[in-house]
Amino acid sequence: MKYPDTELTRRSTLKAAGAAAIGLSFETFSGEASAQSTSALSSAAPASARTFPDGFYWGTATSAYQIEGAWNEDGKGESIWDRFAHTPGNIRNGDTGDVANDHYHRYKEDVALMKDIGAKAYRFSISWPRIFPEGTGQPNPKGLDFYDRLVDELKAAGIEPFATLYHWDLPQALEDKGGWLSRDTAKAFGEYAGYIADKLSDRMKHIFTINEFRSFTDAGYRGFEVPGPVPRTVHLAPGLKLPPAEFHQVRHHAVLAHGLAVQAIRAKAKPGTKVGPAENIDTAVPLIESPEHIAAAQLATREMNAPFLTVMLEGKYTDGYLKETGKDAPRFTDEDLRIIGAPLDFVGINVYAPRFYVLASDQAPGWRAAPYAKGHPKAAINNFPIAPECLYWGSKFLQSLWGPKEIFITENGCAGEDVLVDDGNIYDTDRITFIRAHLTQLQRAAADGVPVMGYFYWSTMDNLEWTAGFGNRFGLVYVDFKTQKRTPKMSARWFREASKRNAVT
Ligand code: FCB
Repeated sequence: MKYPDTELTRRSTLKAAGAAAIGLSFETFSGEASAQSTSALSSAAPASARTFPDGFYWGTATSAYQIEGAWNEDGKGESIWDRFAHTPGNIRNGDTGDVANDHYHRYKEDVALMKDIGAKAYRFSISWPRIFPEGTGQPNPKGLDFYDRLVDELKAAGIEPFATLYHWDLPQALEDKGGWLSRDTAKAFGEYAGYIADKLSDRMKHIFTINEFRSFTDAGYRGFEVPGPVPRTVHLAPGLKLPPAEFHQVRHHAVLAHGLAVQAIRAKAKPGTKVGPAENIDTAVPLIESPEHIAAAQLATREMNAPFLTVMLEGKYTDGYLKETGKDAPRFTDEDLRIIGAPLDFVGINVYAPRFYVLASDQAPGWRAAPYAKGHPKAAINNFPIAPECLYWGSKFLQSLWGPKEIFITENGCAGEDVLVDDGNIYDTDRITFIRAHLTQLQRAAADGVPVMGYFYWSTMDNLEWTAGFGNRFGLVYVDFKTQKRTPKMSARWFREASKRNAVT
C-alpha cells in the first residue's frame, strides 16, 4: 500500500484552515513543517491549555534484560531471567534475551536515536549480575564500565539519565540461596544500591530502587492475576508457586530491600541525588466523578496497594491487609517498618490500565468494582482495557493519599500489531491515540496542581516482552530483530512534537 502522503501536504490553504478550526495541524512525513503549516494551521486551542510544567521530562524507558543482550559477556553473572528463558517452554517461541536489541554493543546508536525522537530523559535499568556476578562480594569493573559509558553518552546528548536498580533480573546465585524469600537478598540489594550511588551519582541524579514490586513478587513467586475484560494469570521468573505465608514474606523482603537501598543511597550518593520507587500502582477509577464515588475509589486504591506503595508511604501495613492475610501475614519488626517507610524524594508509578472502575457502596468495604462491559475498548495485544483516566486518577490519588514531593510516570504505553508498510513507515495510529488520550489525562492532573515532573513512554524501542517474547511491540521505534535495524514509528514523530512543545498535541 502506498500511503497518500502527498495528498496531505498539498492540501489547499482553504481546506487546511478548515482543519485548523477543529484542532489539526499538518506536517510532511519527513517530519518537517510543510509550506502550509503556518501558525494559522496550528492547534485551535491555546497552547497553555495543554502544556506541562516547565522542565517536565519527556522520557522513554527500557530495562536491562529486555534490550541489552550480552548475557554472559565481560564477566556478567547469570540472572534468574537467563535461567528462566533458557528453560524450554517458558517464553513464547523460545525467545531469549541473549542478544535482544544488542543494546550493550549499540548503545551509542540508541542514544542518538533517542535524541532524534525528542527524548529529554531516559529510564534504563542496571543489571545487578553485571555489577555483582554473584549478587554480593567482588564487583565486576567491566559491568560498571558499561553504565559509566552509557551515562556519559546520555549526558553528552542532553538526555537526563534515570536508572532503575532492579528490573527483575536477580543474580541467579542469590536465587539459589532463597531469592526474595531470604532476608539476605534485601541486604545484598542495599549494598549493591550503595555501590551504584557511589559510582554514578556524580552525573546521575535520579535513582529508582525497584520496578513493579507487585509484578516480580506476585508473578515470580505465586502467579499474578491481570484484571480486565479478559483476565489472565502471568508467571514470571523464577516461576515459583509458594504457599501464602512464604509468598507474603517475599513481598515484605522486596519493600524492605527498597528501604535499605534508600538508606544506602542517602549514605553514599553525592548531594542532590534523588531516590524513589517505580511501582505499578493499582488504581481504582471512579466510574462516575462525583464526591462519593471518588472517595470510594480513593479508599479502594489505598487498600489495594497495601503490600507495596501504602506501606512504603505510610510506614505500616493497613489493618485490612493484616486481616486479609491473617496467619499468613508477613513477619516484620518495627525497625523494618521504619526502614521501609523512609522519606522519599519522588514516587514513580507505572500506569497502563486501572485495576477496575469503582462505585461507592453502603456495604463494607465501602466500594464495589464495576464489571467491564464486553465491548470495552481493549489494547490490540494484551487485552488491557483502555481507560486513559487511570493516569489522572493514579497520580491524583497518589497525591491526595500520600502527598509525595514529586511524581514521575515511569511507564505507560501500549503494544500494537505494528506493520512496516512499503513506503518504509509504521502507521501506529492506535499508539498515537493511546498516548494522546493518556497524556491529556496527565495534563489534567498537572493543571490540578498534582506535582507530575515527567512521563516515560514504555518503551523506547520494541524489545523482549518477558514471556511474550519479541511479539509484543511496545516501542516508539520499530526493531527488526533479524537485522537489528531500528525505524522510528509515526508515534515517535508524535512524541518528538509533543516533547518540543511541552504539550499534548
Ligand atoms: C511492565 C514492565 C515492563 C514492560 C511493560 C510492558 O509491567 O515493567 O518491563 O514489560 O510492563
